[in-house]
Amino acid sequence: MKQLLLDVNILVDLCVERPGSTNARLALALAEARGTMLWVYAGSVQTLEYVVAAEIHTQAHAQGDKVTHTGARARARHRLERITAGYQWLAALAAEGPVFGAADPEDDQLHRALDRFEEGTAKLLTRDRGMLARYPGRALTPETLIEQQRHPQTQTPGIDFVDLKAQQAAIRPVLERNLHRVLHHGHYILGPEVRELEARLAAYTGAKHCITVASGTEALLISLMALGIGPGDEVITTPFTFVATAEVIVLVGATPVFVDIEPDTGNIDAGLIEARISERTKAILPVSLYGQPADMDAINAIAARHGLPVIEDAAQSFGADYRGNKSGNLSTLGCTSFFPSKPLGCYGDGGAIFTSDDALAQACREIRVHGQSARYVHTRIGVGGRMDTLQCAIVLAKLDRFDHEIAQRQAVARRYHDLLAHQEESRAKTPSRQADTPSQNALCALAPLREPFQLLPWPKADRTSVFAQYTLRVPDRDARQAKLHAAGIPTAVHYPVPLNEQPAYVHLCCPDCTPVAQQLAREVMSLPMHPDLSEADQDRIVAALHASYPQA
Ligand SMILES: Cc1ncc(COP(=O)(O)O)c(C=O)c1O
Repeated sequence: MKQLLLDVNILVDLCVERPGSTNARLALALAEARGTMLWVYAGSVQTLEYVVAAEIHTQAHAQGDKVTHTGARARARHRLERITAGYQWLAALAAEGPVFGAADPEDDQLHRALDRFEEGTAKLLTRDRGMLARYPGRALTPETLIEQQRHPQTQTPGIDFVDLKAQQAAIRPVLERNLHRVLHHGHYILGPEVRELEARLAAYTGAKHCITVASGTEALLISLMALGIGPGDEVITTPFTFVATAEVIVLVGATPVFVDIEPDTGNIDAGLIEARISERTKAILPVSLYGQPADMDAINAIAARHGLPVIEDAAQSFGADYRGNKSGNLSTLGCTSFFPSKPLGCYGDGGAIFTSDDALAQACREIRVHGQSARYVHTRIGVGGRMDTLQCAIVLAKLDRFDHEIAQRQAVARRYHDLLAHQEESRAKTPSRQADTPSQNALCALAPLREPFQLLPWPKADRTSVFAQYTLRVPDRDARQAKLHAAGIPTAVHYPVPLNEQPAYVHLCCPDCTPVAQQLAREVMSLPMHPDLSEADQDRIVAALHASYPQA
């Protein structure tokens, strides 16, 4: 059980002193300490105010305090406001309205509301005997809850790789309002939220135009199409990325030319690009991996020398800064993804293109609606590539918290970095290990990886990372992952195989011509990362990592 829905009688226990108040408070304090989310049903507001005010009135009069009904209501509201401040409000939905045929409409409403939670994750806390008898598995008293908390199951809860529950709790009122607005206005395609999101994201990045699209992949595809890239053309990119980056190049009929990466960031090595430019090269497509922008000034300078456009794949780095500018607005075009686990995500698929070039912006807008320049006038080949209004409404709800979340991600990463660097250091001090630990974090291309792990250096001084991933290098990765998994710690590999070694791409580039990508693909491992990762969970992760390697 991770969620508790509080019946009116429990909230009355909390608002006024009466038998049962102490137990109700203790039960909720214990539940909260174990991370249980506490919910109040929005449909109960009026009953709550009425019952609490009546109780206050009765008690006051019994003690000789001649409070009026209005005075008692004011006290009730004040107490309810204070007590419910830390709780989640569970919206009352239309399906919970027609309950007048039920024996007890209010109980029926609560039960229907409880049904919305994922099976087995929520219970109703109540003193109502009828509810307890009718829903024995789903309703419990504070006394039973205290008993259960005193004898918790010994199993330690697992840690999620990405956990968006705290984020959702923080944005719930705005999120629900935004979603309901769309349900009511009904402009599901290119509705007002699409325009609002585009305006806000353009302002956020400083780009003149933002064009929302169906996904990050679609953003890259539409950008290539807008640039007119097609059969016979080459696009320079990195092999150490999610497959979408190269896939879209092949989809437009062009050929990806894979250039090796920097060992310390995993980003394309700008110093190797120029040697791979040919007369067929039509664009450079760097990826800002793990959340840290690539060396965009160097890449832009090379592109300018050869008259080439640059598309930044900012799917992982949206929100990061690079020399005073925002990732996504660092080149001819910038593309990002709103995949749910991305630093700025929706609850499905979504993406955006950024550019300050009017003609390219116009082309992207037309391509995302089947190349349409006016209704049923198709001036170019396009795709069905719009981001839907509901998804835009979700991103809008997250936008106000985005900078705070970036700061949280950076704090989580900083803490990982410090804790792990400390582990690395103490291990280096043990006599048996001194010989093979020459320089902290000095990651040397192709140098054998030192036990037990090596951190990727902290982001470069002229840029920030939004830490879409917190990634380090580990030898013997499979065994390490298995041990962490057994300890309830999920890990991920971004990415296990360079794209030029993937079956569908292997013929496009000799696999051995990107040795750094090859090496990192064997060694990288990402740890759980999200803005609300608690210090306790982080300590557990670091301890499990420590326990996963052979002790010196
Ligand atoms: C670097 C990179 N490019 C492109 C994409 C594709 O984005 P989407 O999943 O929204 O299509 C992703 C998403 O995983 C990515 O990480």
